[in-house]
Amino acid sequence: MKALDQFNEQTLSEENAKKYLNEREFIDYLSIPAEDRRSQMLALLEKPIANFTVINELFFRSKWAELIHKLYGENPITLLEVASGDADMIPQAMACSNPGSVYIAANMNKLLNESLLSKTKDLDLKVILVDDDAINIKKHVGGKAADIIAFQHGVNDVVQAILCDQVGVDTIYSDWMETLPKMIEIMQNEVRQETLEQNVKPIFLGLIGYLLETLKEDGIIAINHYMFQLDLDWGYPAELFENFMPVVRKWLAELNLCKEIFIDHFDEQWWIFLKKNI
Ligand SMILES: C[S@@+](CC[C@H](N)C(=O)[O-])C[C@H]1O[C@@H](n2cnc3c(N)ncnc32)[C@H](O)[C@@H]1O
Repeated sequence: MKALDQFNEQTLSEENAKKYLNEREFIDYLSIPAEDRRSQMLALLEKPIANFTVINELFFRSKWAELIHKLYGENPITLLEVASGDADMIPQAMACSNPGSVYIAANMNKLLNESLLSKTKDLDLKVILVDDDAINIKKHVGGKAADIIAFQHGVNDVVQAILCDQVGVDTIYSDWMETLPKMIEIMQNEVRQETLEQNVKPIFLGLIGYLLETLKEDGIIAINHYMFQLDLDWGYPAELFENFMPVVRKWLAELNLCKEIFIDHFDEQWWIFLKKNI
């Protein structure tokens, strides 16, 4: 697979770890021999993610902070994350790099929402949880509210939720991991029958259109993706999983409300950035 990013010694440094990890995580980091930190980082960059270590957290928090700094320096910002689940890389990064910011999550799954609130409760951020479909976001936070709208490994989940909805599989009250085998079966069928585009694209582009209304004029939609080994082991169609960004990029090209921009050091295989057409 194409590497997620170039290996960067600075990301792994003690100074960076101190900045982006909490006290307990930093102790954990220090307990990993330097050589193992390096091999864990290389595995993360070069293979589907199979292990969940503090090095993963360090990499993703640093990468999101790098993006926010490139765009807004250290100023407080408002960021809306769509389909966050209980993944907290972005709010953790923001609390370290842009304290005092506003973090909004639009997320539908009840159990993951509880977990996200618990993980973010002590951060130096204003956290707003919108327990609703992101398509309704404007009703909750208004227009032109966000500097960044982020999908942190969230596009595949949005696509899966759209398809589940079409066949009556609950993704709101269920345990996401228990539902995952069924979702994977649905994705396999979509690929086999070549129906993914017709079943998902109009709804997905509709969602992006609504989200653009909540984006500030000079804001950006930032989408990233990577692969989990577990999903592949459970039969997730590998070519689609690896190429989610190229597939979605083709759909997005049809939307005349926004245009794609490219940012140095953020690989096109794994990242998409959109600016509003104004
Ligand atoms: C597995 S979770 C976490 C995904 C996370 N971004 C990650 O790092 O993998 C997927 C979440 O996406 C949410 N989701 C999917 N489509 C959504 C939508 N249209 N609006 C809000 N949340 C959505 C689900 O409710 C669920 O909580």
